[in-house]
Amino acid sequence: MQHQFEQLKKEALVALTSARDADALRAWEILYLGRKGKLAQLMEKLGTLSVEEKKKVGPIANAVKQELTQAIEVKRTSPGDGRSSPGDGFDTTLPGVRPPQGHLHPVTQAIQEIEDIFSRIGFHRARHPEVDTDWYAFESLNMPADHPARDEWETYFIESPNHRNTESQKLVLTPHTSNGQVRELEKGKLPIRMVNISKCYRRQSDVSHVPMFHQFEGVYVDEHVTFQHLKGVFEYFIHEFFGPKRTYRLRPFHFRFTEPSVEVDVQCDVCNGTGKNCRLCKNGWLELAGGGMMHPNVLKAGGVDPKKYTAFAFGFGVERSYMMKSGLKVDDIRILYKNDLRFLEQF
Ligand code: DAH
Repeated sequence: MQHQFEQLKKEALVALTSARDADALRAWEILYLGRKGKLAQLMEKLGTLSVEEKKKVGPIANAVKQELTQAIEVKRTSPGDGRSSPGDGFDTTLPGVRPPQGHLHPVTQAIQEIEDIFSRIGFHRARHPEVDTDWYAFESLNMPADHPARDEWETYFIESPNHRNTESQKLVLTPHTSNGQVRELEKGKLPIRMVNISKCYRRQSDVSHVPMFHQFEGVYVDEHVTFQHLKGVFEYFIHEFFGPKRTYRLRPFHFRFTEPSVEVDVQCDVCNGTGKNCRLCKNGWLELAGGGMMHPNVLKAGGVDPKKYTAFAFGFGVERSYMMKSGLKVDDIRILYKNDLRFLEQF
């Protein structure tokens, strides 16, 4: 009999080592310590023993019961192995489980990088309205009302009943950051080296357009500013942002607010500049920016004397530039604003 109790104890303790969670512990307890469990069954047999034997085996039986009861208690309050927690014990020495952590949106990361790149050459970030009057968005930029050049900017107009209803007072969601040009000139502090990074809105949506996007507008106004300075700044930015090996080109273009004007294309990173089956670019180049020497009429609109000062200005799309970062291979701009964590978590 004594031997049977010893055996049961051994078996129970072995079984206890492989009980890994609270459910398994409860099952073990019922099996060995329950009212109809293995120990209870064995104890029932004590009744059949002689008084002499009972005196000997009784205390052993009780000791086994006590030992098994203690064993399960210890296991219940013990820390477990980190993956499971028998008895839901809590080990303060285990490394914590980190709660999910977010990060800045890739476009915000790009904006911060752009701000940083320009601050290194003395261009400070300026902020100008994202809802502005027609005057700053178009007219002051040498684009009178009804000028066909305006058609390029698929502009959202805002109903503004409280506004004096002259054409130039109409409100628009800024279709480009160029509205900041005359606003910056009007501050009257020269020289100017600013970069205005803001949201822009246009009624367009396809692989290379979203209705809300960002641009950064660089403006440099001083005596003797030339097109060479503009080229140097383009080259500096492209090499800093895309790396020194990225090929780009300046293509003659026309804007009402710059003369001469260019557009800036970079070699498309999605198709490595081949243009083959590329759903994003045309013939291997993606247009990122427009720029040029500020038109004398724009300087005048901002109260700056074009005989004394010259200036350059340029505007880049932030999202498009970001998509062209080496190796990203983002071939549809709209993915940036789908809020798909499978995409966003990669940045
Ligand atoms: N605002 C133009 C656009 O959105 C880009 C641009 C062209 C900005 C020439 C400039 C500039 O400052 O000088 O397409």
